Amino acid sequence: MLGRQQIAGIPNAIHELFKNAHDAYAENVEADYFRRNRVLVLRDDGYGMTRNDVENRWLTLGTESRVNANVVNKDIAEHEWRGPKNLPQRAIMGEKGIGRLAIAVIAPITILMTRASRPDGLKNLVVALVHWGLFEQPGLDISEINVPVAEFPGGMLPTREDICGLADKVAKNLEDLRHEISPEAFKQLKETLQQVRFIGPDMLDKTLNKNSDGSERQDPLTLSGDGYGTTFIVLPVAPELDDDIDSGTERESSKLERNLLGFSNVMSLLKPVIKTEFRDHLADGPHERIGSKSFFTSEDFKRTDQYFEGTFNEQGQFIGTVSIYGKPRPYVCNWIDGKGRTPRCGPFSLRYGYVQGRSTESRLNPTDWQEMSSKTDRVGGLYIYRDGIRVLPYGNSDVDWLDIEKRRTYSARDWFFSYRRGFGYVEIKHSVNDSLTEKAGREGFRENLAYRDFRSILVNFFKQLAYEFFRNTSPQGEDYIEGKELFTAQAELLKKQKVKAESRRKDFQKLLDVFFEKYNSGYFETESKRILEELSENIFKLDGIKSTEEFAYGSRVLEAEIKQKINKINSSNPNCYA
Ligand SMILES: Nc1ncnc2c1ncn2[C@@H]1O[C@H](COP(=O)(O)OP(=O)(O)O)[C@@H](O)[C@H]1O
Ligand SMILES: [Mg+2]
Repeated sequence: MLGRQQIAGIPNAIHELFKNAHDAYAENVEADYFRRNRVLVLRDDGYGMTRNDVENRWLTLGTESRVNANVVNKDIAEHEWRGPKNLPQRAIMGEKGIGRLAIAVIAPITILMTRASRPDGLKNLVVALVHWGLFEQPGLDISEINVPVAEFPGGMLPTREDICGLADKVAKNLEDLRHEISPEAFKQLKETLQQVRFIGPDMLDKTLNKNSDGSERQDPLTLSGDGYGTTFIVLPVAPELDDDIDSGTERESSKLERNLLGFSNVMSLLKPVIKTEFRDHLADGPHERIGSKSFFTSEDFKRTDQYFEGTFNEQGQFIGTVSIYGKPRPYVCNWIDGKGRTPRCGPFSLRYGYVQGRSTESRLNPTDWQEMSSKTDRVGGLYIYRDGIRVLPYGNSDVDWLDIEKRRTYSARDWFFSYRRGFGYVEIKHSVNDSLTEKAGREGFRENLAYRDFRSILVNFFKQLAYEFFRNTSPQGEDYIEGKELFTAQAELLKKQKVKAESRRKDFQKLLDVFFEKYNSGYFETESKRILEELSENIFKLDGIKSTEEFAYGSRVLEAEIKQKINKINSSNPNCYA
């Protein structure tokens, strides 16, 4: 009934809600997951919803809220409300009117809190309590379901008592509908509802706007005071989310990361349109799960061996730069497979970086190579961004949408690329690529003619790159072959130097060992004492000599003997080694 079957899991649902925040001109959207309590809080600082919006747009199921918002209402779009900061115009992501249902995938209960900022000022905070479980009862008439709504003026936030008040209303509604619901379902619905009675949004706001050291956050996301935006508090969160977070390994990104990393394009040179965050609150404090450290940045393109950048024009022809081992050259690539016809997808641009699989063939220093390789291993791939917002699932390491890995196994000799060694993005726009449309379930583009052309152009491009630059017999292969040979030779040399240095180090270590053994056993002390004794004995002997000549001779001999003995002790001192 809710149409939420269309949404494939909690991370996808959160992606949908992030898009709604984007559409409301939010600059920030943040998720906070409290595992122990199974509560997820999602907050944005967008322009929010008025009571009318809540009742007639958000709560009215199945309405196509803004079909083709970008196409039909172009004139209106120019005068649209873009929040009090009048942010640059955005291409609206929502069009199916199903995004809001994503909230019901996460948990059966939603507390919606939203405060609208409109041209005529700030509105009251509107709070609604929805028990989605009721909407799932077979045979129940939707009009009989009561969703209580309350308003809070003057920047006030609801307290725990206020939430209990709303819960009482839902409980009453549930009681009224009791005869239409199975006894088991009734019991469960009621039990679930009890859990909202522990939520105090005013307290929660304080907790969430504190830093981990207890200080106040500089840029709080809040609906109190002059704050505006939308907050969802959902509970009890389905246990799948824990798996989605924890399923990541050294080599494999988690499901949460696959869906939420790089929501806005942080690989681009432009400032991302919206900042996203997912904090996982565990016993030892909050963990940032989709932070920028785990993803690629624009700077990372400098830490690559091969790099390609350019635009595909109306004819599907690539015009740009190919940079092999840091040596750039202009490159033009025609869409041969198109046989001269105009592609149906429209123009787009691309940036793609590639890191050699062997560190010995890479121009990167060992640390950079290690870092970049582990990143590409986990999250490498070719992503798609539409007006700066990621289109799922492209880029995910298990979505080889250009058959890059497949081709590797088919024709290894003529192929170069490996899917997990590269990263980058294709940038498309609503305004020029509107024939690329997403499936209702949002798992990628519809496989229409435009998409087929789009894909074909990119497949052709990578094929041509492999052919032109990376085979032994490639027409423009010299940069790659020379570069590879150079770096391999350098690596070989470095290895030899290392072996040499290692053996010198070992010799020195041996000497040190001998020295310290002697030192610790008191060898030097006893030896010098012995020499001293010998010396005084012999000096004493010299005393008896009368002839000056003999005395001089005797003392010289004695001096030489003693020096020799001292030298002998010294030779076991490692400082003499050098
Ligand atoms: N975070 C939000 N901030 C402001 N308004 C929102 C938010 N989420 C949803 N809405 C409102 O609810 C409507 C329905 O959202 P949704 O079901 O995602 O459909 P669509 O995005 O296709 O319009 C939106 O058009 C918008 O008016
Ligand atoms: Mg939407």
